[in-house]
Amino acid sequence: MVLGIQCIRYARIMQIRCCQLTKRSISTSIRNCVPAVTQVNTNACGSEKDEKRMPTPPEDVLEATDTETADILKGNIAVYQNFITEEEEKALFDEVEPHLKRLRYEKDHWDDAIHGYREMERKRWSAKNKVIIERVRNLVFPPDASHIPYVHVLDLMATGYIKAHVDSVRFCGSTIAGMCLLSSSIMRFVNEKDKSKYGDVLLKQRSLYVMRDRARYEYSHEILAAEQSHFRGNVVPRDRRISVICRNKA
Ligand code: OGA
Ligand code: MN
Repeated sequence: MVLGIQCIRYARIMQIRCCQLTKRSISTSIRNCVPAVTQVNTNACGSEKDEKRMPTPPEDVLEATDTETADILKGNIAVYQNFITEEEEKALFDEVEPHLKRLRYEKDHWDDAIHGYREMERKRWSAKNKVIIERVRNLVFPPDASHIPYVHVLDLMATGYIKAHVDSVRFCGSTIAGMCLLSSSIMRFVNEKDKSKYGDVLLKQRSLYVMRDRARYEYSHEILAAEQSHFRGNVVPRDRRISVICRNKA
């Protein structure tokens, strides 16, 4: 019974990742339905009036194999440092932790995409946290966006990692925005057509990252394991990491 309910609840989360993940035939079909993209200037993401809402210049948090990759990723990824305060991080954590705690960490995702994780989704948030979710949505998505109402919460153990994947184009739209709680990490974007071309993005604790359009469709993304967690020659220590992810509908 419990398993049945869980399956229904997680069906949505699985849909988000499952289609594109591992199997060659599936990723090929996804590539085939990659929609046309337009390059987005990250500076246009935030409200120009509010300095706190301006993204960090992407070059400060991006290390790429080549300038073309750097330019594409700079144009389609934004990172907002200290998007949430320590107090807000705690409020989000306090709301999700009782639910996460009831779940066991999974060693392997059924489709082999994630190691050492547990996850949930949440539609209704406490008044305090709803304000934060709305802040993300208002900043990142256009006013007429069709949001996936369930916010995805992914809890990675310190030794956990997410392998390269592209979120399902059938279930998830052009933009993915995640708040990073508890730990900094490195998100790697690898060119789907030439895997020797990639960029690493430093995601500090309490930052918000936004990937859209070309970064979302033409590059896979992954969260590096502790052993690979380096940025510009410095170790980026990995701890337990919780991401709170908003998506729009396809
Ligand atoms: C995912 C994913 C990234 C993150 O769940 O599909 O890519 O920040 N998560 O946890
Ligand atoms: Mn993903």
